[in-house]
Amino acid sequence: MYNLLKGKRGIITGALDENSIAWRVALKAKEEGATFTLTNAPIALRMGKIKQLADECNTIVIPADATLVEDIEKLYQQSMEHLGGKIDFLLHSIGMSPNVRKDRPYNDLNYDWFLKTLDISALSFHKLMQVGEKADALNEKASIVALSYIAAQRTFPDYGDMAQAKAMLESIARSYGYKLGKSKKIRVNTISQSPTPTTAGTGISGFDVFLEYAEKMSPLGNATADDCANYVITLFSDLTEKVTMQNLYHDGGFSAMGISEEIVAQFGK
Ligand SMILES: NC(=O)c1ccc[n+]([C@@H]2O[C@H](COP(=O)([O-])OP(=O)(O)OC[C@H]3O[C@@H](n4cnc5c(N)ncnc54)[C@H](O)[C@@H]3O)[C@@H](O)[C@H]2O)c1
Repeated sequence: MYNLLKGKRGIITGALDENSIAWRVALKAKEEGATFTLTNAPIALRMGKIKQLADECNTIVIPADATLVEDIEKLYQQSMEHLGGKIDFLLHSIGMSPNVRKDRPYNDLNYDWFLKTLDISALSFHKLMQVGEKADALNEKASIVALSYIAAQRTFPDYGDMAQAKAMLESIARSYGYKLGKSKKIRVNTISQSPTPTTAGTGISGFDVFLEYAEKMSPLGNATADDCANYVITLFSDLTEKVTMQNLYHDGGFSAMGISEEIVAQFGK
């Protein structure tokens, strides 16, 4: 299309099926001339269709649990071997809360699960950067993106402990963004995406209501997974070299709204 990622090498986490945001990013990255490896947790590889995506993108899938440092070390080694050099872009597209999955109310959380939520959904972002930095696997001016949600700033009752995970994820982008910016001009950002019908999204109870409410509140409507992929590609490209340590809303305007005419009309009935 625009060859925005021509010659760039990357790692894309979190593609599970064709609805996954990461799946859409992989297809667009390929279209824009990048080469990359795909990775997901071993258990997700057994259930998912990621091999199909790998064939389509002419690449390999490297199993890695993003909570395990040794898995991430292998992920970088094998990625650099396969791609023939260091990494220019990295997508963190990983989220899971056992408390949300098992419908635990926020005032009756299982604390072991809470720690798992944070480890899988937030610390994994730090681990991906720390391991990559220590292995000297990241190129100068690389671009690193993770996906977040506005529940980091505002309360959405059914989002449970994922709200804390996203707040931590965004904070890690600022702290590590400073380090990597200073040392290698690498940028680190999070994209705060509209509700999107994926496995992770629809696992939240009341998701359909979230989706419809956000659609009616946003002047541009909800951003789809494909829209999100387009935005990610711009952040991986050379056109955004001075954007770092930001949480970037990609939500059709939702985050700036108070109330919309559609919502007023609905309550007026
Ligand atoms: N869907 C939404 O409404 C929405 C909105 C804003 C942000 N996000 C975020 O986007 C990201 C991608 O989610 P998605 O909506 O595409 O759903 P998804 O379910 O397709 O992707 C989540 C991925 O996380 C992976 N994962 C879980 N545990 C892992 C582990 N231990 N190691 C490695 N990978 C692991 C899953 O296998 C899956 O591929 C998540 O961070 C999610 O919170 C989603």
